[in-house]
Amino acid sequence: MLNPKIKALTQKIQDKKLRKKVIELLENPTFEIDGKKYSGLPLDVSPAGLSHHHCYPGGHIEHIISTANLAEAICDSVEKVYHGKVNRDLVMAGVLLHDIFKPITYTINENGSYGSTNLAEYLDHLSLVIAELVRRGFPLELVHVVSAHHGHYGPISPHTIEALICHLADLMDSRLNGEVLNAAAYLTRKAIGEELPVLTSKEAFEIVHSKTVKGWEGVVKTVEKIKQKRKTHKA
Ligand SMILES: [Fe+2]
Ligand SMILES: [Fe+2]
Repeated sequence: MLNPKIKALTQKIQDKKLRKKVIELLENPTFEIDGKKYSGLPLDVSPAGLSHHHCYPGGHIEHIISTANLAEAICDSVEKVYHGKVNRDLVMAGVLLHDIFKPITYTINENGSYGSTNLAEYLDHLSLVIAELVRRGFPLELVHVVSAHHGHYGPISPHTIEALICHLADLMDSRLNGEVLNAAAYLTRKAIGEELPVLTSKEAFEIVHSKTVKGWEGVVKTVEKIKQKRKTHKA
């Protein structure tokens, strides 16, 4: 079953044929090679990074939703402020699928930490998704949006407005999330002398906000509250 929030985003794609293809891949994000089928972590629990951003359970879904939000805001600016044209279907489809094969590259180690799968030793998430989009007959414009989502660090930089929007929204969300996680980890270390393992975005935003409004005392209190919450959650 597709996450309801992701499902709602797919409904924004007007082109029925494209929408159907996007849903099919989101519902069955598997990759076949050498007669072997790889499936990886389920979308709902997967992180969207191992260390830099969204590196906690559910991070992948949060990343898609937030990137979609940001991408829609950029589309609004392009249309309403700059009077430019943008194919929103391509932007939304690109955002929904750009990291679809990240979960296939992640595994959970015995100690609960995240690691890389054997498949990830050979192919990165971007190569995997491009191969699969071509195999499934997605339109060239969409393949470009996805293949350019890493901007200048990827195999090709964005050559269309849609690809640029997807890249910028992805970059902005990764930075937003990563910076706040980093800041929260730093504040926690400074305040109590150790870090909390696997900080979620909600916890991280709370910690950073507490420093802004109540200073170091606020950080200590918030971290203690989070620790307590985690304990009762486990019990
Ligand atoms: Fe990516
Ligand atoms: Fe991404």
